[in-house]
Amino acid sequence: MMDFVLRGNIIYSEDKDRLSVTENGYAVCVGGVSKGVFETLPEEYAGLETVDCGGKLIVPGFVDLHVHAPQYGFRSVGMDCELLEWLNRHAFPEESKFSDAGYAAAAYKIFVDDLASGFTSRACVFGTLHREATAVLAGLIEKSGLKAMVGKVNMDRNSPDYLREKSWRESVSRTEEYIDELKGFKNVRPIITPRFVPSCTDELMEGLKGIIEKTGLPVQSHLSENPEEIAWVKELCPDCPTYGDVYDKYGMLSASSIMAHCVHLTEREIMLLKDRGAFVAHCPESNMNLASGIAPVSRLLHEGINVGLGSDVAGGTTLSIPAAMTLAVQNSKIYWRYIDNKYPPLRLENVFYLATEGGGKFFGKAGSLKNGYEFDALVLDDSNIKTTVDFSVRERLERLIYLGGRSNIVSKYVSGVKIF
Ligand code: GUN
Ligand code: FE
Repeated sequence: MMDFVLRGNIIYSEDKDRLSVTENGYAVCVGGVSKGVFETLPEEYAGLETVDCGGKLIVPGFVDLHVHAPQYGFRSVGMDCELLEWLNRHAFPEESKFSDAGYAAAAYKIFVDDLASGFTSRACVFGTLHREATAVLAGLIEKSGLKAMVGKVNMDRNSPDYLREKSWRESVSRTEEYIDELKGFKNVRPIITPRFVPSCTDELMEGLKGIIEKTGLPVQSHLSENPEEIAWVKELCPDCPTYGDVYDKYGMLSASSIMAHCVHLTEREIMLLKDRGAFVAHCPESNMNLASGIAPVSRLLHEGINVGLGSDVAGGTTLSIPAAMTLAVQNSKIYWRYIDNKYPPLRLENVFYLATEGGGKFFGKAGSLKNGYEFDALVLDDSNIKTTVDFSVRERLERLIYLGGRSNIVSKYVSGVKIF
Protein backbone atom coordinates (compact mmCIF):
# COMPACT_ATOMS: atom_id res chain seq x y z
CA MET A 1 0.00 0.00 0.00
CA MET A 2 2.91 2.30 0.65
CA ASP A 3 4.71 1.34 -2.56
CA PHE A 4 3.49 3.28 -5.59
CA VAL A 5 4.38 5.84 -8.22
CA LEU A 6 2.73 9.22 -8.86
CA ARG A 7 2.97 10.51 -12.39
CA GLY A 8 2.54 14.22 -13.13
CA ASN A 9 4.30 17.60 -13.05
CA ILE A 10 6.50 17.30 -9.98
CA ILE A 11 7.99 20.20 -8.03
CA TYR A 12 10.17 20.28 -4.94
CA SER A 13 12.93 22.56 -3.63
CA GLU A 14 16.42 21.82 -4.87
CA ASP A 15 17.57 24.23 -2.17
CA LYS A 16 16.25 27.47 -0.64
CA ASP A 17 16.72 29.39 -3.90
CA ARG A 18 15.89 26.80 -6.57
CA LEU A 19 12.96 24.66 -7.60
CA SER A 20 13.28 21.25 -9.15
CA VAL A 21 10.58 20.92 -11.83
CA THR A 22 10.05 17.62 -13.65
CA GLU A 23 7.30 17.74 -16.25
CA ASN A 24 5.43 14.53 -16.75
CA GLY A 25 7.75 12.79 -14.30
CA TYR A 26 7.54 9.95 -11.80
CA ALA A 27 7.68 10.29 -8.00
CA VAL A 28 8.44 6.91 -6.47
CA CYS A 29 7.35 5.89 -2.97
CA VAL A 30 8.63 2.67 -1.40
CA GLY A 31 7.77 1.84 2.21
CA GLY A 32 6.51 5.39 2.78
CA VAL A 33 9.84 6.90 1.70
CA SER A 34 10.65 8.74 -1.52
CA LYS A 35 13.04 7.02 -3.90
CA GLY A 36 13.32 10.24 -5.88
CA VAL A 37 11.77 11.88 -8.93
CA PHE A 38 12.55 10.64 -12.43
CA GLU A 39 11.93 11.72 -16.01
CA THR A 40 11.77 8.06 -17.04
CA LEU A 41 10.62 5.39 -14.59
CA PRO A 42 13.60 3.18 -13.65
CA GLU A 43 13.19 -0.48 -14.51
CA GLU A 44 13.27 -1.59 -10.86
CA TYR A 45 10.03 0.32 -10.13
CA ALA A 46 8.20 -0.73 -13.29
CA GLY A 47 6.05 -3.22 -11.36
CA LEU A 48 4.67 -0.68 -8.87
CA GLU A 49 1.14 0.66 -9.12
CA THR A 50 1.27 3.98 -10.98
CA VAL A 51 -1.27 6.71 -10.26
CA ASP A 52 -1.47 8.89 -13.35
CA CYS A 53 -2.23 12.46 -12.23
CA GLY A 54 -2.24 13.74 -15.82
CA GLY A 55 -1.27 17.40 -16.04
CA LYS A 56 -1.75 18.03 -12.33
CA LEU A 57 0.98 19.35 -10.05
CA ILE A 58 2.60 17.14 -7.42
CA VAL A 59 4.38 18.93 -4.56
CA PRO A 60 5.63 17.97 -1.09
CA GLY A 61 3.09 18.36 1.72
CA PHE A 62 3.25 21.70 3.52
CA VAL A 63 4.44 22.16 7.09
CA ASP A 64 2.85 24.44 9.70
CA LEU A 65 5.51 25.08 12.35
CA HIS A 66 3.24 27.02 14.70
CA VAL A 67 -0.48 26.73 15.34
CA HIS A 68 -2.75 26.95 18.41
CA ALA A 69 -5.48 24.31 18.06
CA PRO A 70 -7.78 25.64 20.83
CA GLN A 71 -7.89 29.07 19.19
CA TYR A 72 -9.30 27.78 15.91
CA GLY A 73 -12.91 28.31 17.03
CA PHE A 74 -12.59 32.09 17.46
CA ARG A 75 -10.29 32.79 14.50
CA SER A 76 -10.92 36.18 12.84
CA VAL A 77 -12.46 37.64 16.03
CA GLY A 78 -10.45 40.24 17.96
CA MET A 79 -8.26 41.17 15.03
CA ASP A 80 -8.37 44.83 16.05
CA CYS A 81 -6.32 44.08 19.21
CA GLU A 82 -2.61 43.98 19.94
CA LEU A 83 -0.99 40.83 21.32
CA LEU A 84 -1.33 41.25 25.10
CA GLU A 85 -4.86 42.67 24.92
CA TRP A 86 -5.86 39.88 22.52
CA LEU A 87 -4.48 37.21 24.85
CA ASN A 88 -6.47 38.58 27.78
CA ARG A 89 -9.69 39.27 25.91
CA HIS A 90 -9.86 36.36 23.50
CA ALA A 91 -7.22 33.63 23.80
CA PHE A 92 -7.24 33.07 27.56
CA PRO A 93 -11.04 33.00 28.06
CA GLU A 94 -11.51 30.55 25.17
CA GLU A 95 -8.61 28.31 26.21
CA SER A 96 -10.07 28.03 29.73
CA LYS A 97 -13.07 26.16 28.27
CA PHE A 98 -10.76 23.23 27.48
CA SER A 99 -10.87 22.20 31.15
CA ASP A 100 -14.02 20.43 29.89
CA ALA A 101 -12.83 17.43 27.86
CA GLY A 102 -16.20 17.20 26.10
CA TYR A 103 -15.93 20.78 24.85
CA ALA A 104 -12.34 20.06 23.82
CA ALA A 105 -13.33 16.94 21.86
CA ALA A 106 -15.96 18.88 19.89
CA ALA A 107 -13.68 21.87 19.21
CA TYR A 108 -10.64 19.76 18.34
CA LYS A 109 -12.64 17.61 15.94
CA ILE A 110 -13.44 20.72 13.89
CA PHE A 111 -9.77 21.78 13.97
CA VAL A 112 -8.37 18.37 12.99
CA ASP A 113 -10.96 17.80 10.23
CA ASP A 114 -10.04 21.14 8.68
CA LEU A 115 -6.30 20.61 9.07
CA ALA A 116 -6.50 17.13 7.53
CA SER A 117 -8.52 18.29 4.53
CA GLY A 118 -6.18 21.22 3.82
CA PHE A 119 -2.63 21.71 2.54
CA THR A 120 -0.85 20.76 5.78
CA SER A 121 0.90 17.40 6.19
CA ARG A 122 2.84 18.14 9.37
CA ALA A 123 2.32 20.60 12.17
CA CYS A 124 3.72 21.74 15.50
CA VAL A 125 0.69 22.38 17.63
CA PHE A 126 -0.05 24.13 20.93
CA GLY A 127 -2.89 22.70 23.03
CA THR A 128 -3.86 24.31 26.32
CA LEU A 129 -2.51 23.78 29.82
CA HIS A 130 -5.08 20.97 30.26
CA ARG A 131 -3.54 17.50 30.12
CA GLU A 132 -6.72 15.60 29.32
CA ALA A 133 -7.87 17.92 26.54
CA THR A 134 -4.43 18.00 24.95
CA ALA A 135 -4.33 14.20 24.93
CA VAL A 136 -7.72 14.27 23.15
CA LEU A 137 -6.20 16.59 20.53
CA ALA A 138 -3.17 14.33 20.12
CA GLY A 139 -5.48 11.31 19.71
CA LEU A 140 -7.52 12.97 16.97
CA ILE A 141 -4.40 13.98 15.01
CA GLU A 142 -2.97 10.48 15.47
CA LYS A 143 -6.11 9.06 13.83
CA SER A 144 -6.09 11.59 10.99
CA GLY A 145 -2.79 10.26 9.62
CA LEU A 146 -1.11 13.67 9.73
CA LYS A 147 2.24 13.90 11.49
CA ALA A 148 2.44 16.34 14.37
CA MET A 149 4.16 17.43 17.51
CA VAL A 150 1.55 18.42 20.06
CA GLY A 151 2.31 20.26 23.29
CA LYS A 152 0.50 20.59 26.58
CA VAL A 153 1.04 24.26 27.37
CA ASN A 154 2.88 25.24 30.56
CA MET A 155 1.87 28.46 32.32
CA ASP A 156 2.15 29.14 36.06
CA ARG A 157 2.29 32.95 36.34
CA ASN A 158 0.96 36.22 34.90
CA SER A 159 -2.25 34.77 33.60
CA PRO A 160 -5.76 34.81 35.02
CA ASP A 161 -6.69 32.48 37.88
CA TYR A 162 -8.94 30.54 35.53
CA LEU A 163 -6.03 29.72 33.19
CA ARG A 164 -2.98 29.22 35.37
CA GLU A 165 -1.42 26.08 36.81
CA LYS A 166 -1.41 26.21 40.57
CA SER A 167 2.31 25.50 40.97
CA TRP A 168 5.37 24.77 38.88
CA ARG A 169 5.44 21.25 40.33
CA GLU A 170 1.92 20.57 39.12
CA SER A 171 2.80 21.92 35.68
CA VAL A 172 5.85 19.66 35.44
CA SER A 173 4.09 16.52 36.68
CA ARG A 174 1.09 17.04 34.37
CA THR A 175 3.57 17.38 31.50
CA GLU A 176 5.25 14.11 32.47
CA GLU A 177 1.87 12.37 32.63
CA TYR A 178 0.98 13.77 29.22
CA ILE A 179 4.26 12.48 27.76
CA ASP A 180 3.52 9.02 29.18
CA GLU A 181 0.03 9.10 27.71
CA LEU A 182 1.43 9.53 24.19
CA LYS A 183 3.71 6.50 24.40
CA GLY A 184 2.77 4.17 21.56
CA PHE A 185 1.55 6.95 19.27
CA LYS A 186 2.95 6.64 15.74
CA ASN A 187 2.08 9.96 14.13
CA VAL A 188 2.13 12.34 17.09
CA ARG A 189 5.00 13.15 19.43
CA PRO A 190 4.81 15.31 22.52
CA ILE A 191 6.69 18.62 22.49
CA ILE A 192 7.60 20.71 25.54
CA THR A 193 5.57 23.92 25.36
CA PRO A 194 6.28 26.75 27.78
CA ARG A 195 3.77 29.33 26.51
CA PHE A 196 6.26 32.22 26.61
CA VAL A 197 8.61 33.65 29.21
CA PRO A 198 6.02 35.94 30.88
CA SER A 199 3.81 32.97 31.76
CA CYS A 200 6.51 30.65 33.20
CA THR A 201 8.35 31.01 36.53
CA ASP A 202 12.08 30.27 36.73
CA GLU A 203 11.26 27.13 38.70
CA LEU A 204 8.93 25.89 35.96
CA MET A 205 11.54 26.61 33.26
CA GLU A 206 14.11 24.71 35.34
CA GLY A 207 11.69 21.77 35.67
CA LEU A 208 11.05 21.72 31.91
CA LYS A 209 14.79 21.86 31.28
CA GLY A 210 15.05 18.68 33.35
CA ILE A 211 12.40 16.95 31.20
CA ILE A 212 14.17 18.02 28.00
CA GLU A 213 17.50 16.70 29.28
CA LYS A 214 15.93 13.42 30.40
CA THR A 215 13.75 12.74 27.35
CA GLY A 216 15.43 14.62 24.49
CA LEU A 217 12.00 15.94 23.53
CA PRO A 218 11.71 19.00 21.29
CA VAL A 219 10.46 22.36 22.55
CA GLN A 220 8.31 25.16 21.13
CA SER A 221 7.59 28.66 22.37
CA HIS A 222 7.26 32.33 21.38
CA LEU A 223 10.22 34.73 21.06
CA SER A 224 10.49 38.50 20.54
CA GLU A 225 7.05 38.82 19.00
CA ASN A 226 5.88 42.23 20.12
CA PRO A 227 7.56 45.31 21.68
CA GLU A 228 5.35 45.37 24.83
CA GLU A 229 5.98 41.68 25.40
CA ILE A 230 9.75 42.16 25.00
CA ALA A 231 9.77 45.09 27.48
CA TRP A 232 7.87 42.88 29.93
CA VAL A 233 10.43 40.06 29.62
CA LYS A 234 13.22 42.58 30.29
CA GLU A 235 11.49 43.54 33.55
CA LEU A 236 10.84 39.94 34.54
CA CYS A 237 14.36 38.68 33.72
CA PRO A 238 16.80 41.53 34.44
CA ASP A 239 19.74 39.12 34.61
CA CYS A 240 19.39 38.03 30.96
CA PRO A 241 20.82 40.30 28.25
CA THR A 242 18.04 39.39 25.79
CA TYR A 243 14.71 37.53 25.59
CA GLY A 244 16.45 34.76 23.65
CA ASP A 245 18.97 34.33 26.44
CA VAL A 246 16.17 33.31 28.80
CA TYR A 247 15.31 30.29 26.65
CA ASP A 248 18.99 29.55 26.12
CA LYS A 249 19.59 29.53 29.87
CA TYR A 250 17.10 26.67 30.17
CA GLY A 251 18.42 24.60 27.25
CA MET A 252 15.54 25.63 25.00
CA LEU A 253 17.52 26.92 22.02
CA SER A 254 18.71 23.97 19.98
CA ALA A 255 18.12 22.17 16.69
CA SER A 256 15.10 20.63 18.47
CA SER A 257 13.43 23.92 19.26
CA ILE A 258 11.03 26.20 17.43
CA MET A 259 10.70 29.84 18.34
CA ALA A 260 7.63 31.47 16.84
CA HIS A 261 7.67 35.01 15.42
CA CYS A 262 11.19 36.41 16.08
CA VAL A 263 10.05 39.78 14.77
CA HIS A 264 12.23 42.10 16.86
CA LEU A 265 15.49 40.19 17.21
CA THR A 266 18.68 41.81 18.46
CA GLU A 267 22.00 40.97 16.81
CA ARG A 268 22.77 38.79 19.81
CA GLU A 269 19.53 36.84 19.42
CA ILE A 270 20.23 36.26 15.72
CA MET A 271 23.67 34.97 16.66
CA LEU A 272 22.17 32.70 19.35
CA LEU A 273 19.53 31.23 16.99
CA LYS A 274 22.16 30.55 14.35
CA ASP A 275 24.70 29.11 16.74
CA ARG A 276 22.18 26.81 18.41
CA GLY A 277 20.54 25.72 15.14
CA ALA A 278 17.09 26.64 16.45
CA PHE A 279 14.10 26.95 14.10
CA VAL A 280 12.16 30.16 13.54
CA ALA A 281 8.44 29.85 12.75
CA HIS A 282 7.65 32.86 10.58
CA CYS A 283 3.98 33.81 11.01
CA PRO A 284 3.35 36.82 8.77
CA GLU A 285 -0.44 36.99 9.09
CA SER A 286 -0.40 36.92 12.87
CA ASN A 287 2.37 39.51 12.96
CA MET A 288 0.14 41.91 11.05
CA ASN A 289 -3.11 41.07 12.86
CA LEU A 290 -1.63 41.56 16.32
CA ALA A 291 0.39 44.62 15.25
CA SER A 292 3.61 42.82 16.12
CA GLY A 293 5.56 43.94 13.06
CA ILE A 294 7.45 42.35 10.18
CA ALA A 295 10.08 39.71 10.84
CA PRO A 296 13.46 39.98 9.05
CA VAL A 297 12.82 36.65 7.38
CA SER A 298 14.91 37.24 4.26
CA ARG A 299 17.93 38.04 6.43
CA LEU A 300 17.34 34.98 8.65
CA LEU A 301 17.10 32.74 5.61
CA HIS A 302 20.19 34.21 3.95
CA GLU A 303 22.17 33.90 7.19
CA GLY A 304 21.50 30.17 7.18
CA ILE A 305 19.12 30.12 10.16
CA ASN A 306 16.48 27.35 10.08
CA VAL A 307 13.15 28.94 9.13
CA GLY A 308 9.70 27.58 8.33
CA LEU A 309 6.21 29.03 8.17
CA GLY A 310 3.46 29.07 10.79
CA SER A 311 -0.21 29.90 10.53
CA ASP A 312 -0.29 30.91 14.23
CA VAL A 313 -4.05 30.46 14.25
CA ALA A 314 -5.73 32.35 15.85
CA GLY A 315 -3.26 35.24 15.67
CA GLY A 316 -3.59 34.14 12.06
CA THR A 317 -7.09 33.53 10.72
CA THR A 318 -6.40 30.64 8.38
CA LEU A 319 -4.71 27.23 8.46
CA SER A 320 -3.71 27.74 4.82
CA ILE A 321 0.06 27.60 4.39
CA PRO A 322 -0.27 28.97 0.83
CA ALA A 323 -1.80 32.06 2.49
CA ALA A 324 1.25 32.28 4.76
CA MET A 325 3.51 31.98 1.69
CA THR A 326 1.69 34.82 -0.05
CA LEU A 327 1.88 37.07 2.99
CA ALA A 328 5.53 36.19 3.57
CA VAL A 329 6.37 37.45 0.08
CA GLN A 330 4.26 40.58 0.50
CA ASN A 331 5.61 41.42 3.96
CA SER A 332 9.20 40.88 2.88
CA LYS A 333 8.68 43.51 0.20
CA ILE A 334 7.35 46.06 2.68
CA TYR A 335 10.28 45.22 4.96
CA TRP A 336 12.74 45.71 2.09
CA ARG A 337 11.10 48.96 1.01
CA TYR A 338 10.61 50.61 4.39
CA ILE A 339 12.96 49.00 6.91
CA ASP A 340 16.12 47.50 5.41
CA ASN A 341 17.01 46.97 1.76
CA LYS A 342 20.13 44.92 2.45
CA TYR A 343 18.45 41.59 1.77
CA PRO A 344 16.16 41.05 -1.25
CA PRO A 345 12.45 40.35 -0.74
CA LEU A 346 11.44 36.68 -0.82
CA ARG A 347 10.87 34.97 -4.15
CA LEU A 348 8.45 32.16 -4.90
CA GLU A 349 11.39 29.73 -4.62
CA ASN A 350 12.15 31.00 -1.11
CA VAL A 351 8.63 30.73 0.29
CA PHE A 352 8.06 27.35 -1.32
CA TYR A 353 11.19 26.15 0.45
CA LEU A 354 10.01 27.64 3.79
CA ALA A 355 6.65 25.87 3.45
CA THR A 356 8.18 22.50 2.58
CA GLU A 357 11.76 21.53 3.38
CA GLY A 358 12.46 24.58 5.57
CA GLY A 359 9.82 23.55 8.11
CA GLY A 360 10.03 19.85 7.24
CA LYS A 361 13.60 19.66 8.52
CA PHE A 362 12.25 19.98 12.03
CA PHE A 363 10.70 16.54 11.53
CA GLY A 364 13.90 15.01 10.11
CA LYS A 365 13.88 14.09 6.42
CA ALA A 366 10.54 15.64 5.47
CA GLY A 367 9.22 18.35 3.19
CA SER A 368 10.83 17.16 -0.03
CA LEU A 369 10.43 14.52 -2.71
CA LYS A 370 14.18 13.97 -2.89
CA ASN A 371 15.45 10.43 -2.43
CA GLY A 372 15.29 9.35 1.23
CA TYR A 373 12.61 11.80 2.40
CA GLU A 374 9.34 10.70 3.96
CA PHE A 375 6.83 10.64 1.14
CA ASP A 376 4.49 13.56 1.88
CA ALA A 377 2.77 14.76 -1.28
CA LEU A 378 -0.12 16.91 -2.46
CA VAL A 379 -1.69 16.45 -5.88
CA LEU A 380 -3.00 19.85 -7.01
CA ASP A 381 -5.49 20.54 -9.80
CA ASP A 382 -5.64 24.11 -11.10
CA SER A 383 -8.16 23.45 -13.89
CA ASN A 384 -10.95 25.32 -12.03
CA ILE A 385 -8.83 28.51 -11.81
CA LYS A 386 -9.86 29.45 -15.28
CA THR A 387 -7.69 31.39 -17.71
CA THR A 388 -6.91 31.58 -21.41
CA VAL A 389 -3.18 32.00 -20.69
CA ASP A 390 -0.80 29.11 -21.27
CA PHE A 391 1.36 29.05 -18.13
CA SER A 392 4.59 27.24 -17.29
CA VAL A 393 4.54 24.74 -14.43
CA ARG A 394 6.32 27.26 -12.16
CA GLU A 395 3.67 29.89 -12.98
CA ARG A 396 0.90 27.39 -12.33
CA LEU A 397 2.43 26.71 -8.91
CA GLU A 398 2.45 30.45 -8.17
CA ARG A 399 -1.21 30.75 -9.18
CA LEU A 400 -2.16 27.81 -7.00
CA ILE A 401 -0.40 29.43 -4.04
CA TYR A 402 -2.07 32.81 -4.57
CA LEU A 403 -5.48 31.66 -5.81
CA GLY A 404 -5.86 28.04 -4.73
CA GLY A 405 -7.89 26.53 -1.91
CA ARG A 406 -9.16 23.21 -0.74
CA SER A 407 -11.06 22.57 -3.93
CA ASN A 408 -7.70 22.38 -5.72
CA ILE A 409 -6.32 19.56 -3.56
CA VAL A 410 -7.07 16.26 -5.27
CA SER A 411 -5.19 13.97 -2.91
CA LYS A 412 -2.77 14.04 -0.04
CA TYR A 413 -0.20 11.50 1.15
CA VAL A 414 1.72 11.58 4.43
CA SER A 415 4.65 9.17 4.82
CA GLY A 416 3.18 7.24 1.90
CA VAL A 417 -0.25 6.89 3.49
CA LYS A 418 -3.13 8.30 1.45
CA ILE A 419 -5.15 10.70 3.63
CA PHE A 420 -7.67 11.33 0.83
N1 GUN B 1 2.37 34.63 23.11
C1 GUN B 1 1.94 33.93 24.16
N2 GUN B 1 0.83 33.24 23.87
C2 GUN B 1 0.55 33.51 22.60
C3 GUN B 1 -0.49 33.09 21.71
O1 GUN B 1 -1.39 32.32 22.06
N3 GUN B 1 -0.44 33.59 20.46
C4 GUN B 1 0.54 34.44 20.04
N4 GUN B 1 0.53 34.88 18.79
N5 GUN B 1 1.50 34.86 20.85
C5 GUN B 1 1.52 34.39 22.11
FE1 FE C 1 1.55 31.63 18.75
